[in-house]
Amino acid sequence: MPKLLLINISFIFFFLLNSFVFAQQSCVTSDCHADFQAKNGAHPAEFTCADCHLDVQDSHAEGKKKTVLSEKMCTPCHDSVLDFKYNHEPVTKKSCHLCHNPHGELKQLLLADCSFVRLFVDYKEEDSYKLCFSCHKRDLLMFPDTSYSTGFRDGTKNLHFFHVNKENRGRSCKLCHGVHGANKPKMMADVVAFGNWEMPVNFTKTETGGSCAPGCHDPRSYDRKARK
Ligand code: HEC
Ligand code: HEC
Ligand code: HEC
Ligand code: HEC
Ligand code: HEC
Repeated sequence: MPKLLLINISFIFFFLLNSFVFAQQSCVTSDCHADFQAKNGAHPAEFTCADCHLDVQDSHAEGKKKTVLSEKMCTPCHDSVLDFKYNHEPVTKKSCHLCHNPHGELKQLLLADCSFVRLFVDYKEEDSYKLCFSCHKRDLLMFPDTSYSTGFRDGTKNLHFFHVNKENRGRSCKLCHGVHGANKPKMMADVVAFGNWEMPVNFTKTETGGSCAPGCHDPRSYDRKARK
């Protein structure tokens, strides 16, 4: 009798150990999430499914598609994105997944929107920089003249429109802004990568405008109160 008990105990122990070790594999079977292992393998994160998807058991039991995501799913390995004086709110809130798909393609930086891979983009309304305009109003670069839709204007001349809204070679947001944050107000980057050149931006904010002395043109300034 005690022998049988011992076998039982060791069987239970073996089962528990197994379910722990194989927690990851059990999410990826030929029926469920079959394509996730390979894709996940592309991102060299050692995390298991359950490190990021916290309540898989509960949410599956309740038939929900969405799982509760761990707040710590990215920053333990990528804490440098938080290292700025002015941080982008979705980054501080650790909502990396609103921009990056952890199951996406690494060579595209896990971004669904390819506008960001390039420095210059043929601007198309409704299409370019969809990522940014899921939260911000596209109005900020829609009109050549505006007295309200953006603070980046000289008098009423819309400088977002002027720089970005071009049929060919519109400038990417990342040529001026740090996407995760920056040490200058308005998330203006100190330097931006332009090929191998770390191009300085030298932005200074003023009460009613700002100035910059970038590597790509002479120093310029803008003033929202300027009369044109
Ligand atoms: C590094 C964190 C992380 C890891 C590891 C991870 N996921 Fe995800 N997964 C996410 C995030 C973030 C989302 C997007 C959730 C959202 O947008 O609401 C997601 C979405 C999903 C979705 C639903 C949406 C879709 O794209 O189809 C499934 C299913 C999924 N993951 C399965 C898995 C499986 C299976 C594993 C393990 C092989 C895994 N995940 C590992 C973070 C992770
Ligand atoms: C366990 C550590 C770990 C976790 C967790 C992790 N990553 Fe990574 N990530 C890496 C490593 C390692 C690389 C490869 C870095 C390299 O090649 O320079 C990488 C690469 C990337 C890249 C491409 C960087 C490049 O310059 O090519 C992006 C974007 C990225 N991770 C975003 C995320 C996001 C978003 C999350 C959360 C959903 C996340 N990572 C979670 C370790 C991790
Ligand atoms: C508002 C959208 C957005 C959010 C939110 C966001 N990212 Fe990014 N991330 C980007 C874009 C766009 C790039 C590409 C920038 C480039 O090409 O220079 C990028 C690039 C990266 C890279 C590649 C190298 C680098 O540092 O630029 C890593 C790693 C990364 N993000 C991690 C994260 C992590 C971790 C979080 C959450 C704490 C996060 N991102 C939140 C948009 C975002
Ligand atoms: C998930 C939502 C979200 C996405 C996506 C997003 N942002 Fe933001 N962004 C915010 C929030 C929230 C704030 C802070 C409130 C505000 O100023 O609107 C902010 C602030 C900013 C600011 C500073 C504004 C100021 O007045 O100081 C800039 C610049 C900015 N975002 C640029 C971008 C760019 C460029 C992208 C695309 C790469 C982007 N955002 C994508 C939510 C988002
Ligand atoms: C040529 C540089 C430059 C480019 C390119 C650029 N911005 Fe800006 N942006 C600025 C400056 C400068 C400000 C600060 C305006 C001020 O003084 O308030 C600003 C402000 C903002 C703000 C705060 C609200 C506003 O309009 O005043 C948001 C949001 C923003 N930019 C998003 C974007 C997005 C999204 C892109 C790409 C589609 C982009 N920017 C491209 C320079 C740029």
